[in-house]
Amino acid sequence: MIRLLATLLLAAGAALLHGPADAQAGDASLYQAFGEKPGLALLMDRFVETLAVDERTRIFFASADKPRLKEQLTDQLCMLAGGPCVYTGAKMRGQHRGLEIGRSDFNALVEVLQDSMDAQGIAFSTQNRMLARLAPMHREIITRE
Ligand code: HEM
Repeated sequence: MIRLLATLLLAAGAALLHGPADAQAGDASLYQAFGEKPGLALLMDRFVETLAVDERTRIFFASADKPRLKEQLTDQLCMLAGGPCVYTGAKMRGQHRGLEIGRSDFNALVEVLQDSMDAQGIAFSTQNRMLARLAPMHREIITRE
């Protein structure tokens, strides 16, 4: 929990400090640090499989189309990391509307992502750069307290 808070604070700080400049077009260093598309696909495989069994998140993913979700997340994170992918999936607000996702659900998903990144040996600083790019999406995903 403390680690999650530290990370979210760091992520928020990094977003404030660097803003969109950290995601400049043409800078693929984060994409490379994740092992490019194969590394991200492996990470999303582990992430989605864990979300489907973690007691805090499994209820949301009980009837999910896991292969599609892995593919869409891989493209989305690839693009966010500065890789050569184009995310063509659903808009975040529309996709998550109706799921009644609260802050604690969002935090649980972030923790599962952190554990998945740890398991894949991704450096803490690299993890935080990605989380800083994902964190602002909470506004489109959290729809209840
Ligand atoms: C930054 C955080 C998040 C990101 C980047 C994200 C991204 C995505 C993406 C890319 C999709 C697939 C869109 C498509 O198929 O076109 C999706 C679907 C979904 N997400 Fe999220 N999501 C996030 C947070 C959450 C949270 C916190 C929950 C619930 C705890 C959640 C539950 C779901 C569910 C249930 C689906 C539908 C899966 C299916 O029916 O196949 N998401 N999300």
